[in-house]
Amino acid sequence: METFIKSLPKVELHIHIEGSLEPELLFMLAKRNHIALPYDSPESLRQAYKFADLQSFLDLYYQGANTLINEQDFYDLTWAYIERCKEQNVIHTEIFFDPQTHTDRGIEFDTVVAGIYQALEDASCQFGISSNLIMCFLRHLSEEAAFETLQEAARHKDKIIAVGLDSSELGHPPEKFSRVFQKARELGFFTVAHAGEEGPAQNIVDAIELLGVSRIDHGVRCTDSEELVDYLIERKMPLTVCPLSNIELRVFNSMSEHNIVDLLRKGLCVTVNSDDPAYFGGYMTENLLAVHKALPMTKLELAQLTINAIDSSFISVANKLKFKELVWHYLAENHH
Ligand code: HPA
Ligand code: ZN
Repeated sequence: METFIKSLPKVELHIHIEGSLEPELLFMLAKRNHIALPYDSPESLRQAYKFADLQSFLDLYYQGANTLINEQDFYDLTWAYIERCKEQNVIHTEIFFDPQTHTDRGIEFDTVVAGIYQALEDASCQFGISSNLIMCFLRHLSEEAAFETLQEAARHKDKIIAVGLDSSELGHPPEKFSRVFQKARELGFFTVAHAGEEGPAQNIVDAIELLGVSRIDHGVRCTDSEELVDYLIERKMPLTVCPLSNIELRVFNSMSEHNIVDLLRKGLCVTVNSDDPAYFGGYMTENLLAVHKALPMTKLELAQLTINAIDSSFISVANKLKFKELVWHYLAENHH
């Protein structure tokens, strides 16, 4: 089964590129950019990755992002993630980036986009890995700041497929950004939002009704309301679930208590994703292996996770069909 999981074609829909910054690359960038770090080695930094909740993670995540300065840094960051995708047979990925984390430090929006986008173009040319880019607003910042960021994104409409909403969920509900998201949809962006990770099930309802989202990022708190679970099934609303993240940030006490496999078997369109792989102990394969170890699935169920992600992605109908054929073929060839 381990071999089946490793070679299974995968699609990732919830990965923060800043969260793929491994301690070794972080140290290399700090040196290149003459930035002092409060840790003496990548190992001692990794030792500090023990989180009590979302906020304690975010504090370290934003600190790590401070080592990203030049276009080349954003390229190197993205390329390192793409190499993991290649190793793990990720055929398509939809990547979040947090421009405000960088523009608030005086880095140009264009610098961030240029570095990430060049790496994604090279990924397509060299490895045939397809991708889309999703810009996230930091929800702890103001509506006004989000509007300014949306204006910058509009200049890069050709490179950015959707807008999302991340950072501290508690105290910053979806309604704070309903006008920004309405404007984003008018501009032709798809929308997604983190909801029901640490925050209540109501945030999931509000993200759908007030923000017009095509997917819910996390959404695992939906099981607080049986009615909401039925509504998500009926609406075929995808959830981009991040199992290792949920354990590391204590959304669930252990993987065996995670609700993802229950939700899958109920018919919810759930997907498996890595969120911030450098901080939470792994990429797509590690997430799938960790879920399967605690909550064994059939090969068909594992393949269904990729099919769900393909159906939930922002690619053309023709490409969805092409990717699904790859998965069906893989399943047929490896069923026994
Ligand atoms: N939740 C909210 N914001 C984030 C996350 C997350 O899991 N990862 C990076 N930014
Ligand atoms: Zn996330």
